[in-house]
Amino acid sequence: MKTYQLAAVPGDGIGVEVIAAGLQVLEALSQHLGGFAFEVTHYPWDSAYYLKHGHYIPEGGLAQLKQADAIFFGAVGSQQVPDHISLWGLRLPICQGFDQYANVRPARVLPGVKSPLHNGEAIDWVIVRENSEGEYSGSGGRVHQGLPIEVATEVSTFTRVGVERIHRFAFELARSRPAKHLTLVTKSNAQRHGMVLWDEVFAEVAKDYPDVRTTRELVDAVTTTMVLKPAQLDVIVATNLHADILSDLAAALSGSLGIAPTANLNPERSFPSMFEPIHGSAFDITGKGVANPIATFWTAALMLEHLGEPAAARHLMQAIEAVTASGLHTPDLGGTATTAQVTDAVIELLRR
Ligand code: NAI
Ligand code: MG
Repeated sequence: MKTYQLAAVPGDGIGVEVIAAGLQVLEALSQHLGGFAFEVTHYPWDSAYYLKHGHYIPEGGLAQLKQADAIFFGAVGSQQVPDHISLWGLRLPICQGFDQYANVRPARVLPGVKSPLHNGEAIDWVIVRENSEGEYSGSGGRVHQGLPIEVATEVSTFTRVGVERIHRFAFELARSRPAKHLTLVTKSNAQRHGMVLWDEVFAEVAKDYPDVRTTRELVDAVTTTMVLKPAQLDVIVATNLHADILSDLAAALSGSLGIAPTANLNPERSFPSMFEPIHGSAFDITGKGVANPIATFWTAALMLEHLGEPAAARHLMQAIEAVTASGLHTPDLGGTATTAQVTDAVIELLRR
């Protein structure tokens, strides 16, 4: 029997609700299938904790998290704390501290879910987001604060190592899929330094993958391809900022932000990887019991795959898809079901 150490970091708002649901589903899955179990450590690092202690992650916190086989993360963000403080206080230190440079975001219209596109069933994408540098490298600064001559810079940083490893990761992923097609998203017409390096390194890496078909699209143009010709895309590699935006679009086109999962991977496995729904803490529905837990369940399936439990991941995906197909939907998908009802329905199917 394999026991995985799982670090649960539910964070704020509906993060707490969906991670609780996700842990219930994982528990049911391990009980039903046997062969593996989870030992869960809960980390209470939310915004209330920050307001009380002055930090999200306490001294030694990352070292503790590092012991885990995987991190199951909810969301961080509160109306009491500025977003740049919460994001840089909790989520980014984990992603950057554990070198989770490959952020993988699958998008697909699940059975029974309605895409706003008439041809939404053509959506079957994986967006690969560079997750360690680029526009979110954190370099820059502000001088003359508050004065009319105030200056702020936000410096995008692209390193050859950082760019090469994400392109290589994306090529490997594209190679593993039936379509073997990789789209490079760029903006090297307007941004003539970092984005040109991004393109050049892509072309170099491409030589090692002659079996993968490549296309190149500017980030503005690819939004129209996503909406008008979704079948033309398969795996998409984009920078930290570009992919952040494209993946929210992909989530909306697949039916709801409430179903979209993501994995922050450290592919070398020197550190634990982190799995989270794409959505945030959703102030508008917090505490109402109607958060869609499907994004978190799909996230749990990505985590199982990463841990080396592909059969469990498949079993879970089948249960998720049977529930979405049944029409038991939370309000974000046009239904009236609660988080608990969807969770119970998935668990019920897992036990069959
Ligand atoms: P959000 O994702 O929290 O919510 C956007 C909209 O989608 C809201 O109307 C919300 O109700 C809906 N929604 C999101 N997830 C849902 C779910 N599972 N079921 C049903 N409806 C769902 O994004 P927003 O409002 O921009 O941000 C709220 C807070 O969350 C902010 O503080 C923000 O910084 C933070 N945030 C954190 C993220 C993270 O921890 N990775 C990601 C995105 C936002
Ligand atoms: Mg985002």
